[in-house]
Amino acid sequence: MKQAYIWVAFVLLLVLNIVLMMRLSHANKRIDMMVASRQEAPNLGGHQAHEDDEEIELAVVMSHIQRHANKLYFAGQNENWPLAAFYVHELEESMEEVEDGHIEEDGINISKLMKSIGLPALKTMEDAVEGKNKAAFTSAYTNLVSNCNTCHQSAAHPYIVIINPTTPALDNQQY
Ligand code: HEC
Repeated sequence: MKQAYIWVAFVLLLVLNIVLMMRLSHANKRIDMMVASRQEAPNLGGHQAHEDDEEIELAVVMSHIQRHANKLYFAGQNENWPLAAFYVHELEESMEEVEDGHIEEDGINISKLMKSIGLPALKTMEDAVEGKNKAAFTSAYTNLVSNCNTCHQSAAHPYIVIINPTTPALDNQQY
């Protein structure tokens, strides 16, 4: 009698084990599929990019823009014109990526806004840096920051407010 119980318990455990193994393999397949679909995600330049993917990419480009805008400030304040020119160029690349990316968010054409708001502010900045003029730089920077915020307001993100930095975002670089 006691032996019969042990057998029943053994068989039950065996069945349970098989069920758990099957579930695990199912979960592993799902993880593989998720990893694969992330790797296939089109980049910002892809015209037929899915809206969710675009949003993720736009935030990444914006965080690059934020960092380079921070560095540009200290390069300009220290009248390090070659470095300032470098960051103007980096900002231009990021902004053009947004301009050419056919990005639309909640019916708002972000690419068009970049063309009309973002890039013109950068042109003023480029002239100031090329002219190695600190006063012009300071005023172009104020203009740039104000255009960042105008676009955030136009793009229904008024709570993303950019200001002039007081400390470099990273402390391991010389300006
Ligand atoms: C063409 C419009 C436009 C311009 C110009 C613009 N932004 Fe943005 N920015 C956006 C949008 C739209 C988002 C929200 C992105 C999202 O929904 O993922 C955003 C998000 C951000 C964020 C939040 C992402 C994060 O990492 O915290 C920061 C920071 C930012 N922008 C910085 C800037 C700075 C700095 C400038 C100016 C030098 C700037 N942006 C100019 C449209 C713009």
